[in-house]
Amino acid sequence: MLVHMAVSKSAGTLRDLQLALQLKIEELRQRDALIDELELELDTKDDVIRQLQLEMDRHRRPSQNPPTAAERASTAAVQNPPAPDEPQRTKRQAISAEPSALDPSQLSDVTLTSYCKSKESSELIQRALMDNDFMKHLEQGQILTIMDCMSPTSLAKGCCVIQEGDDGSTVYVLEEGKVEVSKQGKTICSIGPGKVFGELAILYNCTRTATVTALTDIKLWAIDRQGFQTIMMRTGLIKLSQYTDFLRSVPSLQSLPEDVLSKLADVLEETHYSEGDYIIRQGATGDTFFIISEGQVKVSQQNAAGDELLVEKSLSKGDWFGEQALEG
Ligand code: CMP
Repeated sequence: MLVHMAVSKSAGTLRDLQLALQLKIEELRQRDALIDELELELDTKDDVIRQLQLEMDRHRRPSQNPPTAAERASTAAVQNPPAPDEPQRTKRQAISAEPSALDPSQLSDVTLTSYCKSKESSELIQRALMDNDFMKHLEQGQILTIMDCMSPTSLAKGCCVIQEGDDGSTVYVLEEGKVEVSKQGKTICSIGPGKVFGELAILYNCTRTATVTALTDIKLWAIDRQGFQTIMMRTGLIKLSQYTDFLRSVPSLQSLPEDVLSKLADVLEETHYSEGDYIIRQGATGDTFFIISEGQVKVSQQNAAGDELLVEKSLSKGDWFGEQALEG
């Protein structure tokens, strides 16, 4: 596992590296401020759209109750999918699970259990999470942890997996078979393998927005509300302090002041590579600075003939590379 940050041009000494990092932090802070302003503006526009949708719904269904927030979310996601070429807004905080569901002080009490699964199942779950409109913006680490904590379950044809109006406690990924989604007795759609369902009640802390029934015998992966919300919150709250601790443990960064370390921690992103993956290719333009937090990295260079790879050195936890991107 690696943590990395994009860097700008500067000289290659440690002092210059620190200076370049501080400049980068300032640049990121300014960008953050701009993004915050734009998000605020977009939120205001979202509110107006929601008001107008409510207004339209009222005119369409004068005798019925107005839909709940989650119903609107699910309807909007299904009825108004963004056009393929329409730029989509990626909110930095993708999920707004209501804090009342899990007290942050309980976070350390919750034990996450991981369940063995085949490579195919792991990949199916990851793809399903990344394909879901409400979960696709989760960080890779969160997706991997959710996948890891999902447990297997099977149900027979005809079983009701989710009942509309119930309190929801589980998010599912369908691995085998088919389910039907219905609202107020009317079929909305059917869902096949590789799809997430049951996420709305957990993400929005509302009751189940639809009924889900097994059309065939089905095999599911499931994670409960507490596990799911723990992963969401832990990643946000604890990651920052873990990253700061990690940076403090890197000998070359120990001289940085605490506030610089925590700002650096704020802009770090975790990336996972499998054994044998290339991280940087010789000759490619570099704009990323990496610090190894787990595992080993081999640095090699192509010879003049361009046909042989010479092993130069091996790097491990706390070592960094990609710093030459600082030199442009
Ligand atoms: P949840 O509300 O937790 O439980 C019912 C699930 O059905 C819901 O989450 C979604 O995963 C799914 N669902 C709700 N509305 C629709 C819809 N219009 N189309 C497809 N799936 C839906």
